[in-house]
Amino acid sequence: MEVLTRTDQLRAAVAKARQAGARIAFVPTMGNLHDGHLSLITTARTRADVVIASIFVNPAQFGPDEDYETYPRTLERDQALLASQGTDFLFTPTVAEVYPHGDTTRTSVEVTGITDRLCGASRPGHFRGVTTVVSKLFNMVQPDVAVFGQKDFQQLQVIRRMVEDLDFPIQVMGAPTLREQSGLAMSSRNGYLNESQKQQAAGIYRALCACASDIESGARDFADLETQAVIDLADAGFRIDYFQICRQSDLEPAMEADRELAILAAAWLGDTRLIDNVQVNLD
Ligand code: PAJ
Repeated sequence: MEVLTRTDQLRAAVAKARQAGARIAFVPTMGNLHDGHLSLITTARTRADVVIASIFVNPAQFGPDEDYETYPRTLERDQALLASQGTDFLFTPTVAEVYPHGDTTRTSVEVTGITDRLCGASRPGHFRGVTTVVSKLFNMVQPDVAVFGQKDFQQLQVIRRMVEDLDFPIQVMGAPTLREQSGLAMSSRNGYLNESQKQQAAGIYRALCACASDIESGARDFADLETQAVIDLADAGFRIDYFQICRQSDLEPAMEADRELAILAAAWLGDTRLIDNVQVNLD
């Protein structure tokens, strides 16, 4: 695996691969990799000849009171994991490489509507930071396919919308969420939890599955299902940000006739904000 820190190095490597006729897949990450991230590399491998991963903790997507400074940075370990997974290139730019003009003169990319709700409502500016950096990375790598996790379902749908609206010639693939045995979705932020909190945290997935199973059994009073889940999660010690039954395409609140649903939740356990979701396909 070749590690590249500069955009010109990356462009040269991509140009060479392209000249040789290679199909290129891209997996952007913020590092501190776990099996969920690595499963994206495996998926990318099946779709392309050359797999490029990036590790960049993107300051633009963290709010002023969020964990940008303390976000775990474990580059050496991540590098070894990616190499063992057969990644061809790892791009690890510095903040100055990605944002040479600093914060003030930055052009940004913003998807409206779908970013107003759910995580967008509680993390103002977060998705603008994500779509801006992903656009920049897409322009740098120019992949044929890019793989994102369904774990961050709103992010996946926002990126799909951006790619459609801005005509990026890139196929966006969503890959399933990898979980601990307890059901807890793997996440870099799980490292902030102690062992008993990790067990407790699996309660979010249990609440999502219970709600999905009620819908599959015919329940259609979505507001009532949401209220019940919020009560159960509060009883289990969570501070709930949202628990919402949405339609998958635009993440608007689901209507009774919708068939492709996603149930999305965000909740705090102590100082750690956790998100998870499940999809329900009724057809
Ligand atoms: P990060 O949180 O590092 O996640 C990188 C990718 O891994 C995302 O597509 C995310 O959905 C996926 N992922 C995380 N946990 C997963 C799990 N348990 N199972 C499967 N996939 C999982 O998401 C970001 O970084 C950033 O916002 C980024 C897109 C890199 C832009 O900065």
